[in-house]
Amino acid sequence: MEMKLSVLVLALWVPTIFSQSDWWQTGQFYQIYPRSFKDSNGDGIGDLNGIREKLSYLKDIGITAVWLSPIYKSPMKDFGYDIADYKDIQPEYGTMADFDALLKRANELGIKLIMDLVPDYTSDLLDWFQKSVNRVKGYEDFYIWHDGYPDPKNSSNRLPPNNWLSVFRGSAWKWNTKRQQFYLHQFLAEQPELNYRNPLVLEAMKDVLTFWLDKGVAGFRVDSVPYIYEVRPDSKGRYPDEPKSGSTDDPDNFDYLKHIFTQDQPETIEFVYLIRAFLDEYKRKHGGDTRVFLAETYSPIKIIMQYYGNETHNGAHIPFNFNFVKRANATSKAPDYAAIISLWMDNMPKQYTANWVIGNHDNRRVGSRYGPGMIDAMNMLLMLLPGASVTYNGEEIGMLDVDISWKDTVDPAACNSNPQIYQQFTRDPERTPFQWDDSKNAGFSTGNKTWLPIHPNYREVNVKVQQAAARSHLKVFKDLIQLRQTSKTLQRGELKYKALNDNVLAVQRSLSGSNTILLLMNVSDKSQTVYVQQWSATIPASMKVRIASVQSKRNANETLKVSSITLDPYESLVLE
Ligand code: GLC
Repeated sequence: MEMKLSVLVLALWVPTIFSQSDWWQTGQFYQIYPRSFKDSNGDGIGDLNGIREKLSYLKDIGITAVWLSPIYKSPMKDFGYDIADYKDIQPEYGTMADFDALLKRANELGIKLIMDLVPDYTSDLLDWFQKSVNRVKGYEDFYIWHDGYPDPKNSSNRLPPNNWLSVFRGSAWKWNTKRQQFYLHQFLAEQPELNYRNPLVLEAMKDVLTFWLDKGVAGFRVDSVPYIYEVRPDSKGRYPDEPKSGSTDDPDNFDYLKHIFTQDQPETIEFVYLIRAFLDEYKRKHGGDTRVFLAETYSPIKIIMQYYGNETHNGAHIPFNFNFVKRANATSKAPDYAAIISLWMDNMPKQYTANWVIGNHDNRRVGSRYGPGMIDAMNMLLMLLPGASVTYNGEEIGMLDVDISWKDTVDPAACNSNPQIYQQFTRDPERTPFQWDDSKNAGFSTGNKTWLPIHPNYREVNVKVQQAAARSHLKVFKDLIQLRQTSKTLQRGELKYKALNDNVLAVQRSLSGSNTILLLMNVSDKSQTVYVQQWSATIPASMKVRIASVQSKRNANETLKVSSITLDPYESLVLE
C-alpha cells in the first residue's frame, strides 16, 4: 500500500516538474523608466510615443516583457510613484490613446506589457485623500490618521503618534490642519499611506487592477510591498515606537530605526496572496496567458520566500532578487558571488522560479557599481542563471552613472537631504536619458534641455555605435538572450557553480541530451589560470567559445582545451 502511494505521488509530481515552462519563467524582463527612454515631442521628457517607436529595438534584442515605471497622472513629486489618478496618463507622457497604441504595438511584436502598480500610498492630490481629509462618508479611514499627543512644552502644538521615520528622512507623520490630525507617510509627505485595515481600500485597488487588466496588460510590478501594512494599534489606539538600529547617529536617517512595526507585517504577506489569487482568478474567468506578479521587496531572504507563497497559497511569481544589487560591489570576490547565488537557490523551495536583478531606477548602474570591466560579466551571470532575468534600461549598452550637481538634483530622496550628504541618497545618476546614438542629446530628444543631463560619454556609449561595432556590450547582451531562448540547457538544465579561486567564478548548466554550458568570469584586474575539470568532472575536455566579453581576445566558435584556461583581466566567457 505504502509503495503504491509513493508511486502515485511520483506520478503526480512528474508532469509539474517536467512540463513546459510558462512564459514568464524564462522571460527576459526589461524595465523602462519612461521619463528617460525616448522623447517624441522635444520637451526633454520621455513619453509613450517614444517608447512605441523603440519597441522594435527591444524585440530585436530579444526582450519578452517590458515593465513600465509609473505613467499615471501625477504631480511628479516622486517622479510618478505618487499617483493622482490610477486610471489616467500623465500628460507629459501622452494620452490614454497613446497608451492603447503602445499596447497594440507591443501585442503585435509579442512583447508583454507590465504596469507598475503603487498600492501602498497615493499622491495627496488623489481625490481619495482629499475626501479623507474632509471626512467624506466612506473615505474617513482610507488613510492612517491619528490625533497625536499634546505637547507638554507648548499647548498650541501636538506631537506625532510615535517615532516612525520616512524613507525620505524625518518623521513619517504629518499634521493636517484641515482634519486636525496626523497622517502617516512612509515616503514623501505628499505620499500618504493607504489603510488596508479598511476593506474598502483593497476593493478600490482591485478596481484599479481590473481597469488595466481589461485593457490587456500582462501583469504588474507591485511597488513597495513590505510597507503595505503597519502594526495594528493597541486598544487605546497607540502605535509602538520602533527600536534604534545603532547603524547611524543621524536621527532623521531612515536607517536610524529597526523597522519591525512598519515592514513585512504578517498581513502584508496575506495581501500578496490576495493579489495573486485575484490575478489567477482573472485569468480563469477571462482566459489568456498568466498575468504575472513581480513584487518589489528588499526584505530578508526568509520573508521573501514567504512572498513566493506557502503550502496553501501562491504569492508573487517574481519577488525581486536584489541580492546582486545590495550585496555585491566593485570589491566583491568570486566567493561573494557564489554566496549570493547560494543565498537564493538554497532558500527557495524547488517549485518556485528564481529571478535575478542587477539594476533598477533606485540603484547605481552596473558599470558604476561593479566597475566598467564587469558589465558583460554581470549580464552573462544574469542570463546564465536559471529563471527570469530583469534588466534596467541602458544596462544592455553599459550606461554609466552621471555625476549630478546639487543644483541639478531633482530626486526627492536627495533634495530632502543637504548638499553635503545628498550623493548618498540621490538616484538621479542612474536615471539619465537613454543613449540611442551620437546625435544631439544622444538621440533621446530634439529639445534644448533634457530633464536630467545626458552622460558625456554618449558619443562612444550608445545603441547605434554598439550595433555597428564588431564587439560591444549590446552584442554580448543580444547573443546571451539568443542563447537563452534556444538552449534547452539554459531553460531547464541543472545548475552548478563555484568560486574556482578568489577571482574566478564558474557557473555550469547541464541537461542530459543537451550541450553543457559553462560561464567563467574573472572578477579581477589580473589574469587568472583555472582548471575547471578538477572542479567538475562532467565538463567536456574541449568546448567552443559561444560568447566572449568585450575585453576578450577570443573569438566566437574558437575551440578551447579546458584542462587549463587563462583568463585576461575581467575576461568572461560563455563556453558550450
Ligand atoms: C519604490 C520605487 C521608488 C520610489 C519609492 C517611493 O521603492 O521603486 O522609486 O521612490 O517606491 O515612492
